[in-house]
Amino acid sequence: MAGTTNAVAAAKRAAGYQAAEMVEDGTVIGLGTGSTVFYAIECLSGRIRDGLSVAGVPTSYQTAMRAREYGVPLTTLDDNPVLDLAIDGADQVDPQFRMIKGRGAALTREKCVASAAFRFVVVIDEAKMVPRLSGAVPVEILPFATKTAMAQLRGLGCRPFIREAVKKDGPVITDNGNFIVDCQFEDIVNPADLETAIAAIPGVIESGLFSRFAGNTTVVVGSEKKCTVLTSADVFP
Ligand code: 5RP
Repeated sequence: MAGTTNAVAAAKRAAGYQAAEMVEDGTVIGLGTGSTVFYAIECLSGRIRDGLSVAGVPTSYQTAMRAREYGVPLTTLDDNPVLDLAIDGADQVDPQFRMIKGRGAALTREKCVASAAFRFVVVIDEAKMVPRLSGAVPVEILPFATKTAMAQLRGLGCRPFIREAVKKDGPVITDNGNFIVDCQFEDIVNPADLETAIAAIPGVIESGLFSRFAGNTTVVVGSEKKCTVLTSADVFP
């Protein structure tokens, strides 16, 4: 078990470091959330000490705290509405670069940042490449509309569960003050249609389905021994 954990950590580190090496001097970048992105921040920190000039828009309090700790200068989407590149993790990526994100409940800000970026660099370990998206799709929901939104989510064919906090009683509260509902689907045949249908439910802020970024996405797949970089040209030759 410990071996497996170390292998996954090595894969995440390889992907995070490879993505951080793609960052060019003088750019403004999006900083996603999660353990793989943290490796990118660690690598960026070293590059900044060596003279790289960069500023990052963080997608969560956790990422902002980590970036400050590692000396990565921060900025906001207000000050920099167009980003050169965004680096983020994912929970599942399919062969057409459609994704499920949101294990860390940062999906709304992550989607805002991804859509502001010219290039979206997704860093994953190899276990996250899947033939078809399936399982829990996180959805951020306005607390006021939770019951009604969950009823409509059920109508889309899932079993929705309010995500419970750890070390706090009751639901997870996102950085935006909302709830996360994890929607358990079987195989997701058409992610884009499902993303659109979820977005149309009143009270839904955003879903963790990222189905429309394939065109400017680079996926960095880390394994214990190497890193593979896939671009949209590999998906749509
Ligand atoms: C947070 C996310 C993360 O990017 C995703 O869950 C991957 O995390 P990790 O790199 O820790 O496996 O979407 O909301």
